[in-house]
Amino acid sequence: MKDKIKEIEKQIDAAVSDIQTSKNLMEIKMKFLGKTGEISTLMKNMRDVPAEERPSLGKVLNALRQFAEERFASIEEKIKKAELKKRYAEEKIDVTMPGKETADGAYHPNTLIRQELISIFSGMGFEVFEGPEIENEYYNFTALNTPDDHPARDMQDTFYIDANTLVIEDEYYGETGNLLLRTQTSAGQIRVMENKKPPIKILSPGKVYRSDDDATHSPMFSQMEGLVVDKGITLCDLKGMLDEFAKKIFGSGVKTRLRPSYFPFTEPSVEVDVSCFECGGKGCRLCKGTGWIEVLGAGMVNRRVLEGCGVDPDVYTGFAFGMGIERIAMLKYGINNMKLLFEGDVRFLKQFKA
Ligand code: DAH
Repeated sequence: MKDKIKEIEKQIDAAVSDIQTSKNLMEIKMKFLGKTGEISTLMKNMRDVPAEERPSLGKVLNALRQFAEERFASIEEKIKKAELKKRYAEEKIDVTMPGKETADGAYHPNTLIRQELISIFSGMGFEVFEGPEIENEYYNFTALNTPDDHPARDMQDTFYIDANTLVIEDEYYGETGNLLLRTQTSAGQIRVMENKKPPIKILSPGKVYRSDDDATHSPMFSQMEGLVVDKGITLCDLKGMLDEFAKKIFGSGVKTRLRPSYFPFTEPSVEVDVSCFECGGKGCRLCKGTGWIEVLGAGMVNRRVLEGCGVDPDVYTGFAFGMGIERIAMLKYGINNMKLLFEGDVRFLKQFKA
């Protein structure tokens, strides 16, 4: 047994000088000190040693174990230091190297205008309501006082949808009329008035669709609708609000004017111009020499529309307005080709960093 102990001591010495890594060390440690390791086995074998030899042998064995533990502890410290040093060297960062460039995004001009409009109108107390892009004839036309034979319903303007190709919720669309892609955000007015009693003050932004496609028209574009219904609302309220809006979006010197127009859902209806913010009204290319730029359609909500939504037109009146977001973006940013807004060319888009 004593020889064996000497032998193990030598083995430990030899093994320790060979250890290179923590994993190495673990293995060697297990080999000697593990449950079934050499030293532990010797300790177990003590049972078979004659009783009188046990105390002295026990001492030697304990000394061996202590020797092994100390040797392993000291080598462990060295290895850990070495490994840490190696890791630091490997993970060292050269702070003088040029960094990786990350391209930062920009908002689409439409998004910027949409955000700006929402911010301006919410400052006046408007709430945002977003209606569905798939509508039916009732919300998009009939309820907006647009009769069956109105040219706006012509197949050439409106994308109709084969209802059999869709899974839809009946209670949202009802059974009134064919499904279509909404041609105007005005449809949202009806949905709001059906569900809310006046006072109403909503803003309804969103995409609209028309089967139009040329240099100045896209089959999909965006609109922003506004609706105010309350007791005693007049055209003067509309004009005052538009003045405020025009100044905020195009500049404080800008004036507005109303021209008579026609929309089935408003009476009277107006076309709203702003004085040219490019030339101040003297006449330039932007305003085609007129000093004025058309920006939106508006009017007093037709009493038939109010009635249809269960709002008593003898008690309540209201005004509505609708504008094209692309048009406002083009005017405000001086974009001369609408296609640029739909092509997604980053060279164009990155110019609009907010
Ligand atoms: N819906 C109209 C369009 O698509 C725009 C419009 C005009 C909306 C007058 C209105 C309005 O609310 O009062 O051209």
